[in-house]
Amino acid sequence: MIFRQLFEPISSTYTYLIGCPATGEAILVDPVMPAWQRDLQVINDLGLKLVMSVDTHIHADHITSASILRREVGSRIAIPALDALPCADVLMVEGVPLQVGALRIDPMHTPGHTDNHFSLVAGDRVFTGDALLIDGCGRTDFQSGDSGLLYESVRGKLFALPGDTLVYPAHDYQGRRVSSIAQERERNPRLGGDRSLEDFQKLMAELDLPYPKFINHAVPGNKACGVCPDGLPDHLAQYCTAMAGSPQG
Ligand SMILES: [Fe+2]
Repeated sequence: MIFRQLFEPISSTYTYLIGCPATGEAILVDPVMPAWQRDLQVINDLGLKLVMSVDTHIHADHITSASILRREVGSRIAIPALDALPCADVLMVEGVPLQVGALRIDPMHTPGHTDNHFSLVAGDRVFTGDALLIDGCGRTDFQSGDSGLLYESVRGKLFALPGDTLVYPAHDYQGRRVSSIAQERERNPRLGGDRSLEDFQKLMAELDLPYPKFINHAVPGNKACGVCPDGLPDHLAQYCTAMAGSPQG
């Protein structure tokens, strides 16, 4: 597979480019609004064609560039079927693989961060969205989050993958890029080792995290497959502005 891990610094999001060497078809997993020109440039530089964007869930911390990418290059928009967004082209369900040229990507329903959240399994890699992070996990205190469901998704489904499966999360806030199922299964401080369900639920309930500053704009924007709201206050404008270094379109 042709592969790139792309970083968007405002929301500390990793976007993944997965391409088929045989056909030149490529997808982007969790592309972020301010980085859409950078992402298309990378695809172009690699001689690939973007055929689909996939969002693992309805994000609260950034707006997807799915609609802009569709407008620019005609890529289809894939989202979890359970979200049933009318703007989407492909509705992901577990058990129905996404085909990217000769590559097969298996959607895995991993609720808990949000109720409809999906991870994606591609060969020896798993893209875990905001379910499993490196040494952490997504929060479960808003947007239909449920720590009991997340416990089951991570320990029951993700940790059941082969130990040498590479773990690529949707975020890291400390520059870590990749882990493995075996490492997280053994060492993840929230969900690894012999952590019990009760302990995990208590730990998540006591995190006392601040209310996400962009959520009130991000969620409706993402339910429209990536529309920036009008009248965004100045201090949030960066979420919808092309990132520094991007070619201006
Ligand atoms: Fe999220």
